[in-house]
Amino acid sequence: MYVCMCYGVTDTQIKQAVAKGATDVKTLQSQLGVGAQCGKCIRMAREVMEQELDCI
Ligand code: FES
Repeated sequence: MYVCMCYGVTDTQIKQAVAKGATDVKTLQSQLGVGAQCGKCIRMAREVMEQELDCI
């Protein structure tokens, strides 16, 4: 599922970034670009990241 339409970032990419150590939105933004343009995806990106962090 696409989380960020501006940069074409998927939930799978966010989960992979979390698996490699990302623990905050700033890191996701620098690695994937998510949220760096319109910002509408930040809330969903954070939710995906937090769900994934809970699973680790
Ligand atoms: Fe992610 Fe616009 S949808 S920056």
